[in-house]
Amino acid sequence: MDLFEHQARELFEEYGILVPQAEVADTAKEARAGAERLGGRVVVKAQVKTGGRGKAGGVKVAADPAAAEITARQILGMDIKGHTVRKVMLAQPVEIDSEFYVSYVLDRAAGRFLAIASAEGGMEIEEVAASRPEAVARVEIDPAAGVDEAKAAEIAAAAGLPEATADVLVKLWQVLIREDALLVEVNPLVRTAQGEILALDGKVTLDGNARFRQARWGADDSAHDDPLESAAASKGLNYVKLDGEVGIIGNGAGLVMSTLDVVAGCGARPANFLDIGGGASAQIMADGLSVILSDPAVKSVFVNVFGGITACDAVADGIVQALESVQLTKPLVVRLDGNNAVRGRAILDERSHPLVQQATTMDSAARRAAELAGHTNAA
Ligand SMILES: Nc1ncnc2c1ncn2[C@@H]1O[C@H](COP(=O)(O)OP(=O)(O)OP(=O)(O)O)[C@@H](O)[C@H]1O
Ligand SMILES: [Mg+2]
Repeated sequence: MDLFEHQARELFEEYGILVPQAEVADTAKEARAGAERLGGRVVVKAQVKTGGRGKAGGVKVAADPAAAEITARQILGMDIKGHTVRKVMLAQPVEIDSEFYVSYVLDRAAGRFLAIASAEGGMEIEEVAASRPEAVARVEIDPAAGVDEAKAAEIAAAAGLPEATADVLVKLWQVLIREDALLVEVNPLVRTAQGEILALDGKVTLDGNARFRQARWGADDSAHDDPLESAAASKGLNYVKLDGEVGIIGNGAGLVMSTLDVVAGCGARPANFLDIGGGASAQIMADGLSVILSDPAVKSVFVNVFGGITACDAVADGIVQALESVQLTKPLVVRLDGNNAVRGRAILDERSHPLVQQATTMDSAARRAAELAGHTNAA
């Protein structure tokens, strides 16, 4: 779960990291009032959970409260990479001497954390890393040891940052650990003309598994950036949106993962991950189908079930009942195998819905779903 910049800023402030004074507004009028409280001149910043706001016109300086109102009106409602701007943050402008990049990120493969830092902040770090990799320092962090003053000094030295940034590096580490974050990024971290070190922009990604410990963000209804994921989460479904055109429903995470692979092996792309788990009731099937069918990219749906404790006839009953409440608008390929598969298939045959077809193996079902999604040369 990503935090908005203004939430990251709030956290940084709590941990004693210097940040510009700021206000959050969701209307242009509020933006004007906020700018007045901040002394007039402000930076108006779109609050969206995606990068590259500046380039998209979502970060602008306003000279006075009247200009802040006009600028906020332009930025509110703007679409930045598919994210609609619903809030702006107004920040007091600071006089920048130099801009740096710092972040901590979980390196899953190494089982460690990684500090990434560069004296060339402000712009996109990916670009710096691509064009001048030597300008980006990567320092491994032993999670048990963490970042103390000595480690922070090591990171700052490796990246060529001023010594004064070490204190911020220690505090950022505390944010990462105590807030259960997987990523904490500051770009830019700046040295002001007065020599102070300030965090001007922040990105924090929290570990969703620790949400129960971080109740303060619990009420945030935008935890899922994708509207389909939000809809699925509100129905308690284990759904992840992907980029393809074959909708997937399966029981058990392992089976669903291999279903994604088999569909990809047929030259098609899965549109989602959806594990309906052991229950597979009519309600769950109906909820899953309705989320998948509301994805405009989906051209066919593949239901792949291996009957276990919940036998295939129960799943087939669930599908038949779901077809009563959900209007099927795309072809459905069902593969039932395992416990009571024969009876399950018979139930679906009897229902004989024109858009539902069955296949007896996972491979043949995947090929059929890929064909129905327009991949004629499915392997
Ligand atoms: N409070 C501020 N005072 C002065 N300059 C600022 C302030 N906030 C941002 N800026 C300037 O604007 C630039 C872009 O701001 P910021 O990093 O917040 O947005 P961004 O990088 O475009 O967004 P993102 O990080 O989402 O890609 C900064 O590098 C900095 O030069
Ligand atoms: Mg930035």
